[in-house]
Amino acid sequence: MTILVTGGLGYIGSHTVVELLQNNFQVIIVDDMSNSEKFILDNIEKIGGKRPVFFPFDLRRKELLSQVFDAYEIDGCIHFAAYKAVGESQEKPLDYYENNLFSLINVLQEFKARNISNFIFSSSCTVYGQADKQPIDENTLLKMPESSYGKTKQMGEEILKDYAIAYQKKVSLLRYFNPIGSHPTALLGELPIGVPNNLVPYVTQTASGIREKLSIWGNDYETPDGTAVRDYIYVVDLAKAHVKALQKLMNEKSETLIDVYNLGTGKGSSVLEVVEAFETANEVKVPYQICERRAGDITIAYANPDKAERELGWKADTSLEEALRTTWEWQKYLQTKN
Ligand SMILES: NC(=O)c1ccc[n+]([C@@H]2O[C@H](COP(=O)([O-])OP(=O)(O)OC[C@H]3O[C@@H](n4cnc5c(N)ncnc54)[C@H](O)[C@@H]3O)[C@@H](O)[C@H]2O)c1
Repeated sequence: MTILVTGGLGYIGSHTVVELLQNNFQVIIVDDMSNSEKFILDNIEKIGGKRPVFFPFDLRRKELLSQVFDAYEIDGCIHFAAYKAVGESQEKPLDYYENNLFSLINVLQEFKARNISNFIFSSSCTVYGQADKQPIDENTLLKMPESSYGKTKQMGEEILKDYAIAYQKKVSLLRYFNPIGSHPTALLGELPIGVPNNLVPYVTQTASGIREKLSIWGNDYETPDGTAVRDYIYVVDLAKAHVKALQKLMNEKSETLIDVYNLGTGKGSSVLEVVEAFETANEVKVPYQICERRAGDITIAYANPDKAERELGWKADTSLEEALRTTWEWQKYLQTKN
């Protein structure tokens, strides 16, 4: 089976490509390297034992995309490619709508034209906004996200639902909670391009001295220690879920057109708990300061991942400490590399 992985040199994409290779899928990557680097491809090959076919272009270039479909018989797609920085999306909403939605639509046009099924979409727990109750299951009401980034995820889901019904194609919407960690080989991880938006890259860069102090945005939330609570899922566990979701889509016996899964651990951790776990796992200090709440941040979000366990036979089982240990190994690898 040949799978197109868009954004396959990115953080989650690269880990997923390795899992696909290890499960004997052929992989074709399209990535314009707007948020990735070529050495990731070499490292994928080192771990996965095979070099995926790689096309470095922007998915908005429809004619190039069409040529890939002409040249290869593609059986499915995992669509990671998107811009993902929440803050930046507020400053450049049009760039986010254009990239995230046109890239998606262009791939779907090819799928429709060539009658291909099996499409997996990287969605996010941001589609739930601040949910009324925790943990969040797949039936929780969707609320309009505050950021343009979050809106592109919600719109992407709507586009895919209409597409699946109109053309009778199978799709899977995977709503990730907060991916963290790096590959156990320390050869893949989240690249530190720009100022990190997410907590864990910020913690790592602070521990290594790149940043002076970690800013904790608010300690007056209604949570046990006052800091915001999220569900941190290890990226390799997350990558494995994609293989399971793909296998379910490709299973002839599976009749559902639209699968939706929350991918999280089911456990919420506060910012302070993450900092503490990082310090314990890696025996390093993370200096921090408490700042005012940041606009748009929600108080608490953690998944009910039971549906994924029931239907995909998948469960995130790596501990927070172990995930944070791999993050630190990746940081050390990046420092020796540069
Ligand atoms: N990392 C998270 O916290 C998180 C959480 C929820 C959902 N997601 C979603 O998961 C997906 C992957 O996230 P990630 O963290 O791996 O991001 P990433 O930025 O590391 O990976 C995305 C990849 O897509 C590529 N890309 C972007 N636009 C492209 C285009 N038009 N054509 C070709 N390539 C393009 C980038 O170069 C990058 O390699 C994204 O859709 C993101 O929105 C991420």
